[in-house]
Amino acid sequence: MEFKLLNKDFKIPVLGLGTWGIGGFMETDSTNDEKSIQSIKDAIDLGYTHIDTAELYGAGHSEELIGKAIKGLDRSKLIITSKVFKTNLRYDDVIVSCKKSLERLQTDYIDIYLIHAPNPDIPLKETMKALDFLVEEKLVKFIGVSNFSVEQMKEAQKYSKNKILVNQIPFNLSARNYDWKGNCSNMESEIIPYCQENDIIIMAFRPIERGFLLETKSILDDLSEKYNKTKAQIAINWLISKKGIITIPKSSNIEHLKENLDAVGWKLSEEDIDLLDKTNFGSPNV
Ligand SMILES: NC(=O)c1ccc[n+]([C@@H]2O[C@H](COP(=O)([O-])OP(=O)(O)OC[C@H]3O[C@@H](n4cnc5c(N)ncnc54)[C@H](OP(=O)(O)O)[C@@H]3O)[C@@H](O)[C@H]2O)c1
Repeated sequence: MEFKLLNKDFKIPVLGLGTWGIGGFMETDSTNDEKSIQSIKDAIDLGYTHIDTAELYGAGHSEELIGKAIKGLDRSKLIITSKVFKTNLRYDDVIVSCKKSLERLQTDYIDIYLIHAPNPDIPLKETMKALDFLVEEKLVKFIGVSNFSVEQMKEAQKYSKNKILVNQIPFNLSARNYDWKGNCSNMESEIIPYCQENDIIIMAFRPIERGFLLETKSILDDLSEKYNKTKAQIAINWLISKKGIITIPKSSNIEHLKENLDAVGWKLSEEDIDLLDKTNFGSPNV
């Protein structure tokens, strides 16, 4: 596995495990619990050490399944990212949310705790003070944000004594400056350069655009043949070739988990990175 530096003492793998849909989407779905727990265990056995989740996922059930999958394992070898949802950003709500996540995850601390998305109706100052409290209490190691613009990152940082170390954003070959789901914009032109200049890790979510990048015919087919790698591997390798970018593809399928791991440990040529940079892949709704 390759790593990038979250801060001077903490390395984060370039590839982690996403969990949106594991245990349900907006609501809890318990129909595949045993399989889901097994797939998280498989991922860890294969070498995944960073797991991304959120209180939102499956209305908390994703965290519960992760808690069951990691029970008995050496916690210090795992990195867990979770997120407080945008409706829970009042000072007391952040603390309650974090404590509930810890309970569901059956752990004493969350490595990286993110604000899932900005909420203009709740003063950021309150939220950041609550995140500082969680760090002080050692319930959280590091803090960050998700779907934040440069202005929102700057404002958040002003209110916190802890450095914002992560911005998790929709970024992939298809979503550059425009996210068809409307989470975020200006990723390539503004957010990524700002994060790179300020030592903020970019956690790119939806790295294969939920399969869209694999379904359409594109330059990825040619590169796939050239490198003897799958289209998913090329799309992931392009992301992690960039300064400060790591990613978190979701999979519950052991073959995909292995395939995605093999997106790491080799390099696209500068020329081909450039070619991918310049290619317009369209997006799912156009
Ligand atoms: N902060 C935010 O607002 C936010 C928003 C969205 C997502 N996220 C995080 O980012 C993670 C990744 O995003 P995502 O799950 O939306 O999209 P994604 O990782 O781009 O795509 C996941 C989908 O692709 C399939 N897949 C994975 N690897 C594959 C491969 N090698 N070949 C073919 N299909 C493959 C998965 O199915 P199988 O399970 O069958 O492999 C799943 O259906 C999420 O799980 C979540 O943790 C964060």
